[in-house]
Amino acid sequence: MSLNPNSLNAVISPDHLNTTDLLSEAAAANRVLSQQEQQSKNLIHQRLLNVVDLAVLDTLSEEEARRQLQDICRNLMQEEQIPVPLAGRQQIIKEIEDELLGLGPLEALLADKSVSDILVNGPHCIFVERNGKLEPTNIRFKDNQHLLGIIDRIISSVGRRIDESSPLVDARLKDGSRVNVIIPPLALDGPCMSIRRFSVEMLGMQHLIDIGSVPPNIAPVLEGIVKSRLNVLISGGTGSGKTTMLNILSGYIPHDERVITIEDSAELQLQQPHVVRLETRPANVENRGQITQRDLVRNSLRMRPERIVIGEVRGDEALDMLQAMNTGHDGSLTTIHANTPRDALARIENMVSMGSVNIQERALRAQIASAIDVILQIERMEDGRRRLVSVSEITGMEGDIITISELFRFDRRGLDAEGKVLGEFRATGIVPSFYERLCQRGIEVPINLFAPQ
Ligand SMILES: Nc1ncnc2c1ncn2[C@@H]1O[C@H](COP(=O)(O)OP(=O)(O)OP(=O)(O)O)[C@@H](O)[C@H]1O
Ligand SMILES: [Mg+2]
Repeated sequence: MSLNPNSLNAVISPDHLNTTDLLSEAAAANRVLSQQEQQSKNLIHQRLLNVVDLAVLDTLSEEEARRQLQDICRNLMQEEQIPVPLAGRQQIIKEIEDELLGLGPLEALLADKSVSDILVNGPHCIFVERNGKLEPTNIRFKDNQHLLGIIDRIISSVGRRIDESSPLVDARLKDGSRVNVIIPPLALDGPCMSIRRFSVEMLGMQHLIDIGSVPPNIAPVLEGIVKSRLNVLISGGTGSGKTTMLNILSGYIPHDERVITIEDSAELQLQQPHVVRLETRPANVENRGQITQRDLVRNSLRMRPERIVIGEVRGDEALDMLQAMNTGHDGSLTTIHANTPRDALARIENMVSMGSVNIQERALRAQIASAIDVILQIERMEDGRRRLVSVSEITGMEGDIITISELFRFDRRGLDAEGKVLGEFRATGIVPSFYERLCQRGIEVPINLFAPQ
């Protein structure tokens, strides 16, 4: 963690180290400072910078640095006799601490485990996602400069930089969270940052069942699909839970297989002992040295993979992926941004045809049809819940069209009084052609699961 560069020369003066037990140690509640409290905070912050050498603070452990800062703040407050009640003083101290040692106003959001996404749209407009729903917060940065300072601290901690000449950055933080930053002139209303927090607790299939994302009787089918080495495409919109589902499905890969994962920013947490993780690299300042997903997919084929797991197909690596799937690397898993299974196939077709290779439409479709076996469609619904809404099998071609048969589907009935989506997950009555494959591999899935209820 780097500290504010305008450090002053004096070390922390011993005069300021006596703790006056002015404040209780109760954790300060996150409240918004009143105007007067804000003024007091600015005053204390300024005075603090005159007595503290930030470079020295940097050499202390975080705990010790925080303790010292707290002591100094309390003394300064007493000296200045600021007209602020106890709770306000605690809040001021906490904010100053966060400002000097941490990520400022973001600390409060980062400390809140129920927040999964933090969306900063300029200094005065910050949203978070909780339980699948976006909500505004009353957290504010002082101004663009303040926000930029914090962004800089985040980005430079992972060795990247952001300025007018490279105004957008996509990076992965040390804790695994994913962050994207875009600043003016590209962002019109001030610096914007989106943080997708790394969820420490790994969701498992049981969890998805418990929260109603996957029906309990479907879980064994999904397990069978992965174990019998079918190629799976997980399709869904932004934040619908594609990566989470990919993570969970990859948990079914047997532990004796060699798995290679390829991602733009590493999010997968595979538990297998034999995993090789690869991550793309953006171009450097001189616009050189970029390694794309396509480069990695091609390279991975020479690494004797038994399974290839691609975080998300989004470009010209699609063709290499299809070829890999068609040439013995079955059991590969990936995700794609699309709203229906049919869309997902159309997107793959587009990705390939936008690449440099010229393939006839029919030949390409035939390749897609024989490469991909199963499409799982997931959806983030307006009640905030993520659901598996369709399980489809690709069965081949009819004329120029790829045939998809839907095995299970979420039939939506409507909304209840609280705005929750109502509906049932049903079998369509089609027994998949991979059923035999499951049986041959000793994977037991009762056939009546596929019978229409
Ligand atoms: N079934 C679920 N129920 C509730 N929350 C979920 C579920 N699946 C994922 N989430 C949460 O939703 C957020 C988005 O999940 P995830 O990253 O898997 O989505 P994604 O579709 O891969 O997003 P992106 O389009 O940004 O890649 C995460 O915070 C994750 O913890
Ligand atoms: Mg994702």
